[in-house]
Amino acid sequence: MNPFSYHNPTRIHFGEGQIAKVGTEIPKDSKVLVLYGGGSIKKNGVYDQVSQALEGHQWDEFAGIEPNPQYDTLMAAVNKIQTEGFDYLLAVGGGSVIDGTKFIAAAARFEGADPWDILAKYAPVKDALPIGCILTLPATGSESNKGAVVSRGKDKLSFMTAKVQPAFAVLDPATTLSLSPRQVSNGVVDAFVHVMEQYLTFPVDAKVQDRFAEGLLLTLIEEGPKALASPEDMTVRANIMWSATQALNGLIGVGVPQDWTTHMIGHELTGNYGIDHARTLSIVLPAVMKEQRQEKEAKLLQYAERIFGLTEGSVDERIETAIANTESFFRDMQVPTRLSDVDLGEEDILVLINSLEKHGMTTLGEHGKISISDSEAILRTAL
Ligand code: NZQ
Ligand code: ZN
Repeated sequence: MNPFSYHNPTRIHFGEGQIAKVGTEIPKDSKVLVLYGGGSIKKNGVYDQVSQALEGHQWDEFAGIEPNPQYDTLMAAVNKIQTEGFDYLLAVGGGSVIDGTKFIAAAARFEGADPWDILAKYAPVKDALPIGCILTLPATGSESNKGAVVSRGKDKLSFMTAKVQPAFAVLDPATTLSLSPRQVSNGVVDAFVHVMEQYLTFPVDAKVQDRFAEGLLLTLIEEGPKALASPEDMTVRANIMWSATQALNGLIGVGVPQDWTTHMIGHELTGNYGIDHARTLSIVLPAVMKEQRQEKEAKLLQYAERIFGLTEGSVDERIETAIANTESFFRDMQVPTRLSDVDLGEEDILVLINSLEKHGMTTLGEHGKISISDSEAILRTAL
């Protein structure tokens, strides 16, 4: 196991009715800006619960943060904050609203000339407004991590800083009952791939991280299809919500190598073709597993045995079956597993490769050895 320092400062309030805690989490003398997306929170009662919880606070709202939050929208919120003087941000929604709010929090206090530099040039974030959040879509882990992904046209870039990690997060599984089957699938698959990016590398004898990761994978494989088959089952919703948070709150990633190739290639698929984040991952991950099977052999065999009980047969047979089972899980979750499933082909590979190059994604993987030509091979395998 590699050396690490670990601190996750986000206080979690989990369970039905916990939105009420927002009132005590945010200091009474704060001027609060509530940020949300396209309006799902107005239809499912979450907005009303937020209004009640904020009784006694001075607050206003900023609506319209879109999926894959766009820089221009976020800068409009920054402008509102700077003109009207808010000092606490409350994000209510999925990963896009929370990520967007993280960028807004940093951009509002940014001292450099152009806040885009936070994403494009990794300009240091020295200060940010405090953030709390109410999660309505279990998927990204953004509610208790320090990362955010922001888009500007076809550029989809990320930044990470402890300054934007939410101080608290409310996770009420009841808020997820209004999700469409597509968003439920996306969430389960995104969380699954987050675990895989931190697990499917090479062994460093990190038994706790490995077994915790395997527990999350098994839970998602078990509960994911149930969420589609029995959408009203709150126990299923609760287990998925907690799995998705644990998948990317930093814990399983400490002291172990990480990959993130699937995400980096996936971001180019979203940036260029607007494909949902999770659906890019279900297309790319199987191809990464196939193309990197030698580098990842030991962990692929561990995955085969501990997730699918595969102990018989040759090394190649066990690995092939494990990859096939992963694809089959994705198909059960009704997400695509090939570029052709989303009507992309050979001619699109060059576009994606050029974008990876433009964004400096030329040395990916846990060894930093996945070159542009390796990414091209991965995309060809995904055809
Ligand atoms: O905007 P509203 O009306 O709220 O509708 C949203 C949106 O249309 C809807 N939705 C959310 N909660 C709902 C609901 N609809 C009904 N009932 C509810 N309870 O779902 C749609 C998608 O929302 P979005 O926030 O875009 O989805 P997700 O949570 O999957 O977030 C995706 C974004 O997060 C980034 C992705 O790249 C993408 O931009 N990621 C962030 C990460 C992080 N910060 O650590 C890591 C991830 O790998 C990921 O890259
Ligand atoms: Zn993701």
